[in-house]
Amino acid sequence: MSPEAAGWEGQALDELKRRWARPHVHLYTRIDSTNSRAKELACAGAPAGTIVLADEQSGGRGVAERRWHSPKGGGLYISFVFRPPSLPNPLVVPVLAGLGVARAVERTLDGVAVGVKWPNDLIVADRKAGGVLSETSWTTEGMPGHLVVGIGLNVHQGASDFPPQLRDVAISLDMATGRTVSRLELADFVIAEVEARCAAPPESLDSRFLGQFERYDWLRNRRCAVTKPGAAPVQGTAVGIAPDGTLLFRLDGGAQVCLTTARVTVNELPTPEY
Ligand code: BTN
Repeated sequence: MSPEAAGWEGQALDELKRRWARPHVHLYTRIDSTNSRAKELACAGAPAGTIVLADEQSGGRGVAERRWHSPKGGGLYISFVFRPPSLPNPLVVPVLAGLGVARAVERTLDGVAVGVKWPNDLIVADRKAGGVLSETSWTTEGMPGHLVVGIGLNVHQGASDFPPQLRDVAISLDMATGRTVSRLELADFVIAEVEARCAAPPESLDSRFLGQFERYDWLRNRRCAVTKPGAAPVQGTAVGIAPDGTLLFRLDGGAQVCLTTARVTVNELPTPEY
């Protein structure tokens, strides 16, 4: 286990604990994955509101067991431990976290258009700038033990810092804005906005959340192909999300279906899928 770091972005650990109004902040210069560490801490009893943050991840994880490229000083790599009293519908968590990240980026970068690709990718300039990995543990009685929500945001990377296969589909916030974005300011907003939405996730998304999603919805009204494991791609149009967090998809034949998981690619764009 790597030793904990004494500070981050020029702030001492105690300053960050005060700034983020919580006693449980764990900083690492380099770690395999902040989500894995947050899960270990949660299993050892870490309270709700615990934050794990690293300057570099050697084994950053994305959804579908993909790798999250996490070079030193390049991005914001942060995970939260939550302990919701109940979690009747885990599908809403990535959607809520994605909304929180979108709002946080918008607050940090006034005037930059951000989007969310269902369920939880952050899109800037039609490229992927970030993603969410939420992981839940359950007690033997079927109650939520803990919920870990990890956020990865590309901040300072240049095009050549991404692996070649990602260069057409990934972007950093510095690349998008042409300036050096403050990771500290971004972390302030991410912590506030993600915690406000994910500490006690509702069973279904109310009109406020659905309205927020509609504003950021990058897939809405786009012609897409949907692929499920072991099946041929199906063509149709994304038409929004349902209160239970599923994607509403109108098949070319006219029928509308709700998707819980699927790979969705936009026909006319190189879809950021990584
Ligand atoms: C995705 O888009 O596939 C989700 C990416 C999530 C990456 C973040 S970085 C911080 C946290 N630790 C991890 O190992 N993964 C998440």
